[in-house]
Amino acid sequence: MLVRLLYASRAAEHLSAEDLAAILKVSKARNPATGVTGVLCFCKASNIFLQVLEGGRDPVNTLYNRIARDARHREPTLLTYEEIGQRSFAGWSMGQVNMDRLNAALLLRYSEHATLDPYAVSGEASLSLFNELVATGLVTGQG
Ligand SMILES: Cc1cc2nc3c(=O)[nH]c(=O)nc-3n(C[C@H](O)[C@H](O)[C@H](O)COP(=O)(O)O)c2cc1C
Repeated sequence: MLVRLLYASRAAEHLSAEDLAAILKVSKARNPATGVTGVLCFCKASNIFLQVLEGGRDPVNTLYNRIARDARHREPTLLTYEEIGQRSFAGWSMGQVNMDRLNAALLLRYSEHATLDPYAVSGEASLSLFNELVATGLVTGQG
């Protein structure tokens, strides 16, 4: 039984580059043991996290509940949750989006403005954006 969960949150005011690196480090270290894979996107301009988690229902639910309590972000908002037949983000214990290469055209394809604001678009649109990021090679941190 596989599920895919997509959520957005707002980074804490004081979030530093070191905090972000620590989050990715712990994710890559811990996720393989529970079989969770996914991608994390952090947009500095809007101070927003967008993360997709895939894996067994229990490990994904447990992890989301832990993440939601993390003081490094607030307003965790579930965007989509679905049972899936196969993963779309199997290649990453926790990949990250290379925001430097994210261009306005890609953002405009799925939203009114060229900013990453998952609170303003449908969950489906954010998921489509994630799939496009993978397809265009903007996700790094394989393994
Ligand atoms: C935006 C965000 C994404 C996170 N993603 C993960 C993740 O994929 N896997 C993970 O183990 N921890 C993730 N964490 C960190 C967890 O919230 C938690 O700090 C970590 O799992 C260690 O938990 P512990 O202190 O209870 O051992 C994330 C935190 C934030 C703020």
